[in-house]
Amino acid sequence: MEQIPVNFDHGFSPMDGDQEASLGTITIDKTHEISHYLTCDYGGIMDWQNFRLSTRLRLSGDVIEALYSRIAEIDAVKNTFRLTHTLLPQTIERLTQSVIVTSTGASNRIEGNKLSDDEVEALYKSMRIKSFKTRDEQEVAGYLGTLQTVFDSYDDIPISESSILHLHQTMLAFSDKDQRHMGQYKFGSNRVEAKDQSGNLVGVIFDPTPPHLTQKEMQELIGWYDWATTEKFKHPLILIANFIFEYLAIHPFQDGNGRTSRLLTNLMLLQQGYNFTSLVSHEKLVEQSKADYYLALNKTQKNWKTDAEDMSPWLLFIFDIFRQQAIEAQVLLESDQFEYLLSEKQLQFWQWARQQGQFSRKTAIDALGFAPRTVEDITKKLLDMRKLERLGQGRATRYRVID
Ligand SMILES: Nc1ncnc2c1ncn2[C@@H]1O[C@H](COP(=O)(O)OP(=O)(O)O)[C@@H](O)[C@H]1O
Ligand SMILES: [Mg+2]
Repeated sequence: MEQIPVNFDHGFSPMDGDQEASLGTITIDKTHEISHYLTCDYGGIMDWQNFRLSTRLRLSGDVIEALYSRIAEIDAVKNTFRLTHTLLPQTIERLTQSVIVTSTGASNRIEGNKLSDDEVEALYKSMRIKSFKTRDEQEVAGYLGTLQTVFDSYDDIPISESSILHLHQTMLAFSDKDQRHMGQYKFGSNRVEAKDQSGNLVGVIFDPTPPHLTQKEMQELIGWYDWATTEKFKHPLILIANFIFEYLAIHPFQDGNGRTSRLLTNLMLLQQGYNFTSLVSHEKLVEQSKADYYLALNKTQKNWKTDAEDMSPWLLFIFDIFRQQAIEAQVLLESDQFEYLLSEKQLQFWQWARQQGQFSRKTAIDALGFAPRTVEDITKKLLDMRKLERLGQGRATRYRVID
């Protein structure tokens, strides 16, 4: 079995070089534990072509047309990214680091985490610290390391049962409340429920796969995806979207299903050549359309496992997200703009600094109302990025904007 290190070899600034921390390893079983030839209940070999996950992709003409117009736009960006090298490798690396922070923040906030992008970024920079004050920090720390590994090693992480279990495990590695179930399928039912304000159950939104069928359905899902991608059964984005929907419907883990589904989306997009996913966060876009996300899942789940299964609400929703992601990546490809690398606070600081031309630490603190430490951190970042120049020494130090 291959060991893939989960670490924080990021380069936010040269000073961080010594802050690299290893979080342990993801163990990957590279032998294909699931193959095209998974046997089915009655002992024969799976007929993937006529399996439920395939037949539900017989879509109507107008849905196909709507999907393909999105695919055309998305694939145009995919190809531009492959063919042109307008972005410098350092720029791509910085953008990816910024995406890791943004995606981690968004993906965890969708699930109720309260940390802002700036707080996530601070945690990303200080990953040597391995004890975290709050639950929110524990969750974010594990996600940061796991997403970093996905971006670094996507070609070495097959879509297999053991990889998925390990992604779940490393994602929750620091989370005290998840130690009992991390890296294992659920053992109790995990219905998606609606509660009123006092916490009383008012209805079941969705009843996922029961625990005793979870492993079987996960094996089928993985076996189907392996066959479908190898055989190029449909366009890769349709295969990815179909996989992710089913994964969420199975809800294989006690908790962490939404977050692992988004890690897997990144992994699959990268494996299929959608490298622009490391420039723009799709999780942020989902966070911004959270109501539509749930609505699309709900609508598609209505006829789940019936003859009337209709994948179109989910496919259209997620393709809109991918299209938006591609459009934003295209803007980046066309305009190597460093402002995309900044968080909201950093951008506010930078825009203020540009108006000033020159400033001192104290004027920045007074004008922006940020904590002194924040002003120092941002100043250092901008110095590292060669956007500021230091003038003078000690108390008389001033900074000049290099535009
Ligand atoms: N009908 C649904 N309504 C809301 N969320 C759903 C529904 N079906 C599946 N989900 C998924 O379940 C996730 C929440 O499941 P959960 O296991 O708590 O994940 P996590 O712990 O990562 O939040 C949502 O983010 C969403 O991706
Ligand atoms: Mg949850």
